[in-house]
Amino acid sequence: MNIGIDALGIATSCYALDLATLAEARGIDPLKYTQGLGQQQMSVAPPDEDIVTMAASAADAILSPEDKASIELVLFATESGIDQSKAAGIWVQHLIGLPKRCRIIELKQACYSATCALQMARYFVTAHPNKKALILASDIARYGLNTPGEPTQGCGAAAVLVSANPRLIALDPEYGLYADHVMDFWRPNYRDEALVDGHYSTRVYLSSLGHAWDHYVESSGRTFADHATFCYHLPFTRMAEKAHERLARHTKQQIPSEELLAQIEPSLSYARRIGNSYSASLYVGIASLLENGTIDLGGKRLGLFSYGSGCVAEFFSGVVQPTYQQALHSSRHNSMLNLRQKLNYHEYAELYQFQLPQDGSEAATPQHATSPFRLTGVKNHVRLYERLSESY
Ligand code: HMG
Repeated sequence: MNIGIDALGIATSCYALDLATLAEARGIDPLKYTQGLGQQQMSVAPPDEDIVTMAASAADAILSPEDKASIELVLFATESGIDQSKAAGIWVQHLIGLPKRCRIIELKQACYSATCALQMARYFVTAHPNKKALILASDIARYGLNTPGEPTQGCGAAAVLVSANPRLIALDPEYGLYADHVMDFWRPNYRDEALVDGHYSTRVYLSSLGHAWDHYVESSGRTFADHATFCYHLPFTRMAEKAHERLARHTKQQIPSEELLAQIEPSLSYARRIGNSYSASLYVGIASLLENGTIDLGGKRLGLFSYGSGCVAEFFSGVVQPTYQQALHSSRHNSMLNLRQKLNYHEYAELYQFQLPQDGSEAATPQHATSPFRLTGVKNHVRLYERLSESY
């Protein structure tokens, strides 16, 4: 029995900052951001959008009433949690009307947690093939103003429905793992911005890829050539290009660099415009590949690499299903990205400074969001949300 990804939706915020605008404000050559990091824009979340509103928007648009009724497991992957105790998935359950007979939990391990969630969902559906599991991955990537990490911010969510006989990707059971105690990127509870040893983090990402790949090869017996293409975790798109070149060298491929980069290009186009969406980013890459690729991927195997600083990495794979194109949400995703409003530098800096009261006192958020859901404010320490529209 095939088990895997039956539907995949993504969402991001209503604002975007061109990296050329940021480069100008910082007095940096824009080519460093657009070519050196491979980023055109980053999504910026206003005060009334957060991990809950983005996850609810991503999920609601892809779930039929029948899907919703058969979901018994909701796994919310994030490193931008809004509460130390309550799982963000319960707000989403309430907002989009998921069943009350449901396991709901939040998972954390930097950008990796959604992939752990996907494997847990696969085991759940293997045991209960007539049930479905929903993974919500949602994050706001935030670094300090005027730090090297600043142009690698972004925000976004992915909703991944896992079922038997999936319409999009049947997951292979084999995987390759690598975990190690490294301090490349972390965010202590008292900080809003991540701390990062940037260059070290890129080196750990690449070495983890080699280790995870070796384990995957031991367990699957597959080679580089058994995969039609690859998707990588996308902190910035140039990182995936470096990863693909590293994997090709590691496996001794004789493929010209241009051809290698062309192999993964369709997986990069959404992230180039959204920026880093942490736990969602690999799944934003998969949506981008399936929706923007020019070749028919039906029946073809994808190699997938998930990396979360700290670190845990996993290499896994899946076979794209023959009728996958009928289950995509390309036009909605593209129009959501196109409709984002562009910020100037001062608007970005002002939004960056905004903070809800830290003592739980009552506050209403100014209305910015154009997405289906928004955070209206906080009252008696409780976050309040509303639905604005049916869908994007
Ligand atoms: P930096 O030090 O400012 O940049 O920060 P740089 O000097 O390394 O330059 C970047 C690239 O631009 C280089 O290309 C330059 O040559 C090029 P490379 O040599 O690497 O190929 N460049 C130019 N190109 C064209 N024209 C120019 C020009 N100038 C320079 N004029 C860094 C870069 C990534 C370190 C920084 O942005 C950062 O710290 N980002 C945050 C950390 C990060 O994203 N790490 C990625 C791996 S870890 C990960 O993926 C996990 C993560 O998602 C978190 C999680 O798991 O939760 C981050």
